[in-house]
Amino acid sequence: MGRATKAVLAYSGGVDTSVCIPYLKQEWGVEEVITFAADLGQGDELEPIRQKALDSGASQSIVGDLIDPFIREFAFPAIRANALYEGRYPLSTALARPLIARRLVEIAREVGADAVAHGCTGKGNDQVRFDVAIGALAPDLKVLAPAREWGMSREQTIAYGERCGIPSPVSKKSPYSIDLNLLGRSIEAGPLEDPNVEPPEEIYALTVSIDAAPAQPQVVEIGFEQGYPVSIDGVRLDPVSLIRQANGLAGSHGFGRLDMIENRVVGIKSREIYETPGLLLLIRAHQELESLTLAADVLRSKRQLEQQWADLVYQGLWFGPLKDAIDGFIERTQLSVNGSVRVKLHKGSATVVGRSSAADSLYVDAMATYDSGDQFDHRAAEGFIYVWGLPTRLWAARHRLR
Ligand code: ARG
Repeated sequence: MGRATKAVLAYSGGVDTSVCIPYLKQEWGVEEVITFAADLGQGDELEPIRQKALDSGASQSIVGDLIDPFIREFAFPAIRANALYEGRYPLSTALARPLIARRLVEIAREVGADAVAHGCTGKGNDQVRFDVAIGALAPDLKVLAPAREWGMSREQTIAYGERCGIPSPVSKKSPYSIDLNLLGRSIEAGPLEDPNVEPPEEIYALTVSIDAAPAQPQVVEIGFEQGYPVSIDGVRLDPVSLIRQANGLAGSHGFGRLDMIENRVVGIKSREIYETPGLLLLIRAHQELESLTLAADVLRSKRQLEQQWADLVYQGLWFGPLKDAIDGFIERTQLSVNGSVRVKLHKGSATVVGRSSAADSLYVDAMATYDSGDQFDHRAAEGFIYVWGLPTRLWAARHRLR
């Protein structure tokens, strides 16, 4: 791989990324490690994390607020794309990775680093997302991933850290591996590794249980402009506030939990628990508005491209050519996705109960109605069906003779 002298490390404050700092210096001969911790709305206090990087041997420790670009440039496009990996997971973790990668590269340029580094293992998706994104944005930078090579168990990692003055985790470490940002939480490992075990209630933080959810349903109205959510219950909100509010509303009714077996890029199946209340609510409402405002053939093509879009983002190809081309298609379709959708939240469910679009609805009363206002030409259907059914009748006649 060749030696690196100055590396910018994606830093979370946990033991693994902390150990990366002395490891890179001692084992790989990196002279200077600069850390970057991103604020993605996870709610952690960042000052202790900034300090911990310095205590672990970083020569410079940078924290940066990426919440606004995270929502505007990554979450909102995912809502327009109705992006659900394998039909379910709204990519809450995956969407953050190209943004972190982009910022790491910018910092590397600012400080004159010749490498970027991350603490991902060789089994996950995040390594793929970081490495591919960095390769696309900065092909000259080396990507260092010590945890992919060091072969240390968790105990060995902690012991290595202690030898370098990194305090071991004080409280008895929770058995779970959690990734958290404003879009939601992913929870893995510990007892959840048995796909046949029901997740314990204690793992959830953004959603209440169905039992604890209010008995009374609540209807919320989401307003959209060009496919972007812009208001809740008639109140215009900036993107970050809107996501926060959607999380609060959906989470308080126990909506937004997922328990799934997911296919990782590296070929293994893993059991994943997510809670992504706001994002799932907004995608559901957005899909519904599209069903009112997009033509049938556009809608069908979009549903196929959405799946590809979700696959590409999951698989680390955010900066790739197919994603770019599909974005062009989506952009064009969203010009007419204006209107609002009402969703009833109740006991873990979110049910669409109404949709409207003053300017762009393709639902035409005079065509749909069964009452006296009906303007559909019923007799025209006969000629249409004659032609439509012709190949079937011809084929059936031929085969009935045999
Ligand atoms: N399986 C999810 C994904 O690939 C969540 C990954 C969580 N990452 C983590 N480092 N804990 O997007």
